[in-house]
Amino acid sequence: MSRPTILRVPPLSPQLHDAVGEQYDAVDLADLAEHAEDVVGIVCSNSGRVDGDLIAALPRLGVIANHGVGYDNIDVPAALERGIAVSNTPEVLDDAVAETAVALLLAVRRQVVPADRFVRAGRWLEEAFPLTGQVAGSRVGILGLGRIGRAVATRLEALGCTVSYHNRHRLPDVPYAYAASAAELAAGVDSLVVVVPGGAGTAALVDREVLDALGPDGVLVNVARGSVVDEPALVAALADGRLGGAGLDVYAEEPQVPAELIAMDTVVLLPHVASGTHPTRAAMRALTLDNLASWLADGTLRTPIPE
Ligand code: DGY
Repeated sequence: MSRPTILRVPPLSPQLHDAVGEQYDAVDLADLAEHAEDVVGIVCSNSGRVDGDLIAALPRLGVIANHGVGYDNIDVPAALERGIAVSNTPEVLDDAVAETAVALLLAVRRQVVPADRFVRAGRWLEEAFPLTGQVAGSRVGILGLGRIGRAVATRLEALGCTVSYHNRHRLPDVPYAYAASAAELAAGVDSLVVVVPGGAGTAALVDREVLDALGPDGVLVNVARGSVVDEPALVAALADGRLGGAGLDVYAEEPQVPAELIAMDTVVLLPHVASGTHPTRAAMRALTLDNLASWLADGTLRTPIPE
């Protein structure tokens, strides 16, 4: 019996790429023209675009299994209009992403990267490293108190921070103060951690007003999507000293990072690796493959994207 034909949209980790090849008749984008009629499923990561044109080119497509919790890489309306099922990988990455957010905040406030450069440059022989800021005792705002946001909040509480948050709606069951807007949240905290999903609804939610509300001693951490922050406004705020620092895992045009940010000592830059730990990536891979297998078996998904 012939195996289902699955399209692999790059970039995929070698392990996921190979696993799809072992279990299915795998097709890559370069060979799509010959196999478009056969493709019933797509496996992609959150850096691989699945746009309306690609969906339209696959007449038998029934499922898109996304390796990642964010799915703004997929034209979801185009998929849903055709009744195509879409899955993501929630929960399994909460700890890893929360750890990255806290690591970025600590690294920026305690100037870990400049201190490392200072030692490597042999400067310790001549001078003391300047005093730094501190996370304990500070106020941190979480923009997007979902599962990952809550995982960030509990870690910050353990570090001695006061946590507040902004969501579109106040949550009934959380012990943190609520702010009615992103700007109001930023005005009342020392640091802001961005964890909202990407997409049209959150585009440039962190704009000049929010950055100015955070202020010259403020630190912005973004482990969500580059699109959530107005990147030119962020660069200008840091360059003018209207914002104290930033810890970034995500950017507007990945893998491009603005040259101005690369030149700044007040920012810590990661290459979109918030979920990039061995156990988390293994769990994300397994969940992606489970979703695909489940849909092929009986048309259900383990973790469909939220409605
Ligand atoms: C995701 O899975 O969407 C995140 O970007 C992980 O880093």
